[in-house]
Amino acid sequence: MALFRKLLRNLPFYGAYKALGHYPDYWYWRLRGQPVRSPHLVKQRTVRDYARRYGLRIMIETGTYYGEMVAAMNKDFDRIYSIEFDPGLARRAARRFAGDPRIQILEGNSQKVLPELLKSISEPALFWLDAGYWGWVNLARDPVRLSVEVEAALSHPVKGHAVLMDDARMLDGQNGAPTFDELRSRIAARFPGRRIELLHDIIRITPAGTQSSL
Ligand SMILES: C[S@@+](CC[C@H](N)C(=O)[O-])C[C@H]1O[C@@H](n2cnc3c(N)ncnc32)[C@H](O)[C@@H]1O
Repeated sequence: MALFRKLLRNLPFYGAYKALGHYPDYWYWRLRGQPVRSPHLVKQRTVRDYARRYGLRIMIETGTYYGEMVAAMNKDFDRIYSIEFDPGLARRAARRFAGDPRIQILEGNSQKVLPELLKSISEPALFWLDAGYWGWVNLARDPVRLSVEVEAALSHPVKGHAVLMDDARMLDGQNGAPTFDELRSRIAARFPGRRIELLHDIIRITPAGTQSSL
Protein backbone atom coordinates (compact mmCIF):
# COMPACT_ATOMS: atom_id res chain seq x y z
CA MET A 1 0.00 0.00 0.00
CA ALA A 2 2.84 2.36 0.96
CA LEU A 3 4.63 1.48 -2.29
CA PHE A 4 1.43 2.07 -4.28
CA ARG A 5 1.02 5.51 -2.65
CA LYS A 6 4.63 6.34 -3.41
CA LEU A 7 4.20 5.36 -7.07
CA LEU A 8 0.97 7.36 -7.25
CA ARG A 9 2.66 10.45 -5.82
CA ASN A 10 5.28 10.26 -8.55
CA LEU A 11 2.75 10.38 -11.36
CA PRO A 12 2.54 13.75 -13.14
CA PHE A 13 -1.23 14.03 -12.59
CA TYR A 14 -1.05 13.31 -8.85
CA GLY A 15 -2.02 16.93 -7.99
CA ALA A 16 -5.14 16.70 -10.15
CA TYR A 17 -5.93 13.26 -8.70
CA LYS A 18 -5.61 14.68 -5.17
CA ALA A 19 -8.06 17.44 -6.06
CA LEU A 20 -10.74 14.77 -6.69
CA GLY A 21 -10.80 14.22 -2.94
CA HIS A 22 -11.54 17.85 -2.07
CA TYR A 23 -15.37 17.60 -2.12
CA PRO A 24 -15.55 14.29 -0.21
CA ASP A 25 -13.08 15.74 2.35
CA TYR A 26 -15.25 18.82 2.72
CA TRP A 27 -18.44 16.87 3.33
CA TYR A 28 -16.70 14.50 5.75
CA TRP A 29 -15.43 17.53 7.65
CA ARG A 30 -18.99 18.95 7.83
CA LEU A 31 -20.36 15.59 8.98
CA ARG A 32 -17.80 15.48 11.79
CA GLY A 33 -18.96 18.89 13.04
CA GLN A 34 -16.21 21.00 11.44
CA PRO A 35 -13.13 20.01 13.48
CA VAL A 36 -10.23 22.47 13.72
CA ARG A 37 -8.24 21.11 10.79
CA SER A 38 -10.09 22.43 7.77
CA PRO A 39 -10.30 20.77 4.34
CA HIS A 40 -8.64 22.23 1.25
CA LEU A 41 -11.95 23.44 -0.16
CA VAL A 42 -12.45 25.75 2.85
CA LYS A 43 -8.93 27.08 2.34
CA GLN A 44 -9.63 27.71 -1.34
CA ARG A 45 -12.89 29.51 -0.53
CA THR A 46 -11.12 31.65 2.05
CA VAL A 47 -8.34 32.66 -0.37
CA ARG A 48 -10.88 33.47 -3.09
CA ASP A 49 -13.15 35.35 -0.70
CA TYR A 50 -10.34 37.56 0.64
CA ALA A 51 -9.02 38.26 -2.86
CA ARG A 52 -12.47 39.46 -3.93
CA ARG A 53 -13.17 41.36 -0.75
CA TYR A 54 -9.91 43.34 -0.97
CA GLY A 55 -9.72 43.51 -4.77
CA LEU A 56 -6.41 41.61 -4.90
CA ARG A 57 -5.18 40.35 -8.28
CA ILE A 58 -1.84 38.85 -7.19
CA MET A 59 -1.46 35.71 -5.08
CA ILE A 60 1.80 34.79 -3.33
CA GLU A 61 1.99 31.33 -1.81
CA THR A 62 4.76 29.81 0.29
CA GLY A 63 4.84 26.02 -0.02
CA THR A 64 3.52 24.93 -3.44
CA TYR A 65 3.37 21.24 -2.52
CA TYR A 66 1.44 19.50 -5.33
CA GLY A 67 0.12 22.80 -6.72
CA GLU A 68 -3.44 22.33 -5.51
CA MET A 69 -3.95 25.95 -4.43
CA VAL A 70 -2.30 27.30 -7.58
CA ALA A 71 -4.53 25.12 -9.77
CA ALA A 72 -7.66 26.08 -7.84
CA MET A 73 -6.91 29.82 -8.00
CA ASN A 74 -5.68 30.18 -11.55
CA LYS A 75 -8.89 31.87 -12.70
CA ASP A 76 -9.05 34.21 -9.72
CA PHE A 77 -5.77 36.09 -10.04
CA ASP A 78 -3.86 37.89 -12.80
CA ARG A 79 -0.54 36.65 -11.40
CA ILE A 80 0.36 33.79 -9.07
CA TYR A 81 3.76 33.26 -7.47
CA SER A 82 4.32 30.09 -5.51
CA ILE A 83 7.55 29.28 -3.65
CA GLU A 84 8.59 25.67 -3.02
CA PHE A 85 11.60 24.50 -1.06
CA ASP A 86 11.63 20.88 -2.27
CA PRO A 87 13.39 20.84 -5.67
CA GLY A 88 11.42 17.81 -6.91
CA LEU A 89 8.06 19.36 -6.03
CA ALA A 90 9.14 22.74 -7.45
CA ARG A 91 10.22 21.19 -10.77
CA ARG A 92 7.06 19.20 -11.01
CA ALA A 93 4.85 22.26 -10.36
CA ALA A 94 6.91 24.33 -12.80
CA ARG A 95 6.26 21.68 -15.48
CA ARG A 96 2.57 21.48 -14.63
CA PHE A 97 1.99 25.23 -14.95
CA ALA A 98 4.56 25.92 -17.68
CA GLY A 99 1.81 26.72 -20.21
CA ASP A 100 0.40 29.57 -18.15
CA PRO A 101 2.53 32.74 -18.22
CA ARG A 102 0.58 34.20 -15.26
CA ILE A 103 1.93 31.49 -12.94
CA GLN A 104 5.48 31.45 -11.67
CA ILE A 105 6.87 28.66 -9.48
CA LEU A 106 9.96 29.79 -7.58
CA GLU A 107 12.26 27.16 -6.14
CA GLY A 108 13.95 27.88 -2.83
CA ASN A 109 13.49 28.70 0.82
CA SER A 110 10.64 31.19 1.18
CA GLN A 111 12.54 32.98 3.94
CA LYS A 112 15.00 34.07 1.26
CA VAL A 113 12.86 34.00 -1.88
CA LEU A 114 9.87 35.92 -0.53
CA PRO A 115 11.76 39.11 0.48
CA GLU A 116 13.47 39.03 -2.95
CA LEU A 117 10.18 38.56 -4.79
CA LEU A 118 8.59 41.43 -2.87
CA LYS A 119 11.10 43.86 -4.38
CA SER A 120 9.24 43.43 -7.67
CA ILE A 121 5.69 43.67 -6.26
CA SER A 122 4.05 47.07 -6.60
CA GLU A 123 0.38 46.34 -5.93
CA PRO A 124 -1.49 44.76 -3.01
CA ALA A 125 -1.39 40.98 -2.91
CA LEU A 126 -3.02 38.04 -1.21
CA PHE A 127 -0.43 36.07 0.77
CA TRP A 128 -1.08 32.40 1.45
CA LEU A 129 1.50 31.44 4.05
CA ASP A 130 1.87 28.40 6.26
CA ALA A 131 2.10 28.63 10.03
CA GLY A 132 2.75 24.93 10.32
CA TYR A 133 6.05 23.64 9.27
CA TRP A 134 8.97 25.95 9.70
CA GLY A 135 10.25 29.26 10.94
CA TRP A 136 9.38 29.02 14.58
CA VAL A 137 12.49 27.21 15.78
CA ASN A 138 14.35 29.25 18.41
CA LEU A 139 11.76 32.01 18.38
CA ALA A 140 11.00 31.31 22.04
CA ARG A 141 14.10 33.26 22.97
CA ASP A 142 12.87 36.35 21.17
CA PRO A 143 9.39 37.31 22.34
CA VAL A 144 8.71 39.87 19.60
CA ARG A 145 10.07 38.17 16.52
CA LEU A 146 7.68 37.12 13.75
CA SER A 147 8.40 34.63 11.02
CA VAL A 148 10.48 36.08 8.20
CA GLU A 149 7.55 35.70 5.79
CA VAL A 150 5.03 37.56 7.98
CA GLU A 151 7.59 40.26 8.69
CA ALA A 152 8.35 40.64 4.96
CA ALA A 153 4.68 40.87 3.99
CA LEU A 154 3.68 43.31 6.73
CA SER A 155 6.67 45.61 6.38
CA HIS A 156 6.36 45.82 2.59
CA PRO A 157 5.84 49.43 1.48
CA VAL A 158 2.76 48.60 -0.61
CA LYS A 159 -0.33 49.00 1.55
CA GLY A 160 -3.45 46.84 1.44
CA HIS A 161 -2.02 43.32 1.42
CA ALA A 162 -4.12 40.57 3.00
CA VAL A 163 -2.12 37.85 4.72
CA LEU A 164 -3.66 34.44 5.34
CA MET A 165 -1.75 31.82 7.35
CA ASP A 166 -2.76 28.20 7.12
CA ASP A 167 -2.46 25.55 9.86
CA ALA A 168 -2.84 27.98 12.75
CA ARG A 169 -3.38 25.04 15.11
CA MET A 170 0.38 24.48 14.95
CA LEU A 171 0.83 27.70 16.93
CA ASP A 172 0.51 25.80 20.17
CA GLY A 173 3.26 27.27 22.32
CA GLN A 174 5.34 24.09 21.91
CA ASN A 175 8.96 23.81 20.68
CA GLY A 176 9.44 27.52 20.26
CA ALA A 177 6.16 28.18 18.45
CA PRO A 178 4.11 31.06 19.86
CA THR A 179 0.42 30.64 20.61
CA PHE A 180 -2.04 32.49 18.38
CA ASP A 181 -2.61 35.09 21.13
CA GLU A 182 1.14 35.69 21.42
CA LEU A 183 1.49 36.03 17.67
CA ARG A 184 -1.43 38.45 17.57
CA SER A 185 0.15 40.60 20.31
CA ARG A 186 3.49 40.63 18.48
CA ILE A 187 1.89 41.68 15.21
CA ALA A 188 -0.26 44.32 16.93
CA ALA A 189 2.82 45.77 18.68
CA ARG A 190 5.03 45.75 15.61
CA PHE A 191 2.42 46.55 12.93
CA PRO A 192 -0.45 48.50 14.47
CA GLY A 193 -3.51 49.13 12.31
CA ARG A 194 -4.10 45.49 11.33
CA ARG A 195 -7.05 43.27 12.08
CA ILE A 196 -5.91 39.79 13.15
CA GLU A 197 -8.51 37.05 13.26
CA LEU A 198 -8.66 33.28 13.37
CA LEU A 199 -11.28 31.01 11.84
CA HIS A 200 -11.15 27.46 10.44
CA ASP A 201 -7.45 27.10 11.29
CA ILE A 202 -6.57 30.14 9.12
CA ILE A 203 -5.13 33.36 10.58
CA ARG A 204 -6.34 36.42 8.66
CA ILE A 205 -4.34 39.65 8.83
CA THR A 206 -6.04 42.52 7.06
CA PRO A 207 -5.94 46.32 7.16
CA ALA A 208 -7.96 47.63 10.11
CA GLY A 209 -10.96 49.74 9.21
CA THR A 210 -12.14 47.23 6.62
CA GLN A 211 -15.06 44.95 7.29
CA SER A 212 -14.45 41.77 9.33
CA SER A 213 -15.22 38.52 7.55
CA LEU A 214 -16.04 36.50 10.66
C1 LIG B 1 1.32 21.92 3.69
S1 LIG B 1 2.22 22.00 2.19
C2 LIG B 1 1.59 23.46 1.44
C3 LIG B 1 0.20 23.32 0.90
C4 LIG B 1 -0.19 24.38 -0.11
N1 LIG B 1 0.18 25.72 0.32
C5 LIG B 1 -1.68 24.34 -0.41
O1 LIG B 1 -2.41 25.20 0.07
O2 LIG B 1 -2.10 23.41 -1.12
C6 LIG B 1 3.80 22.54 2.71
C7 LIG B 1 4.83 22.74 1.57
O3 LIG B 1 5.77 23.73 1.97
C8 LIG B 1 7.05 23.36 1.53
N2 LIG B 1 8.04 24.08 2.37
C9 LIG B 1 8.50 23.76 3.61
N3 LIG B 1 9.38 24.67 4.05
C10 LIG B 1 9.49 25.60 3.08
C11 LIG B 1 10.26 26.79 2.92
N4 LIG B 1 11.08 27.21 3.89
N5 LIG B 1 10.15 27.49 1.76
C12 LIG B 1 9.30 27.08 0.79
N6 LIG B 1 8.54 25.96 0.88
C13 LIG B 1 8.63 25.24 2.01
C14 LIG B 1 7.05 21.86 1.68
O4 LIG B 1 8.05 21.26 0.88
C15 LIG B 1 5.63 21.51 1.22
O5 LIG B 1 5.59 21.28 -0.15
